[in-house]
Amino acid sequence: MTIRPWFPTFIYYADLQPKGAAVFNRELWEECLQIRDYDREGQRWSKNSYPGGYTSYASMANLHKLSSTFMDLEAKITKHVHKYIRHLDMDLRGKKVEMTDCWVNIMPKQVVHSLHLHPLSFISGTYYVRTPRNASAIKFEDPRLSKFMAAPPKRADCRPVNQTHAKYKAEAGKLILFESWLRHEVSANQSEEERISISFNYDWR
Ligand SMILES: [Fe+2]
Repeated sequence: MTIRPWFPTFIYYADLQPKGAAVFNRELWEECLQIRDYDREGQRWSKNSYPGGYTSYASMANLHKLSSTFMDLEAKITKHVHKYIRHLDMDLRGKKVEMTDCWVNIMPKQVVHSLHLHPLSFISGTYYVRTPRNASAIKFEDPRLSKFMAAPPKRADCRPVNQTHAKYKAEAGKLILFESWLRHEVSANQSEEERISISFNYDWR
């Protein structure tokens, strides 16, 4: 008898760079705060769509085209994206991967990032710039959840591979990549300090 897993969902989690993350994050952190101060349109949008927090998602989502620090970040992330694509056995048919969007998320205390996915791209992810101790994790949902119908729930001691949700710690310097269709959320930030991350999308063209 054989029982094998099929159709897995791979999530990539790594240090962005082997060393120097603290210095790089300091630069990114300062720029994130400057962007928030400058981006009036984003402040307005966030008031309605990201209560209590700030995101440049709807106003300045091309930060990798505007700032040399973010360009540097893009180059670093793209190396990881290539590794991830190799793991996924994707054949790009001679086309290139391209970061299409890059934006800032700032979550003060109690701010939530509700369940969503990233349309119009194939690989997405987040880089953590500043994370308070015990910063809320990013939580992914089994993409087959809507198809479970009459299946019984999973046992409390269920193996990680069979869990219906997967959590990853938000830790400054860490990069997370996932396929853009994978739904995810961030629960309320319980810390007095802001949780700051940069999210992005990739397309192949
Ligand atoms: Fe997201």
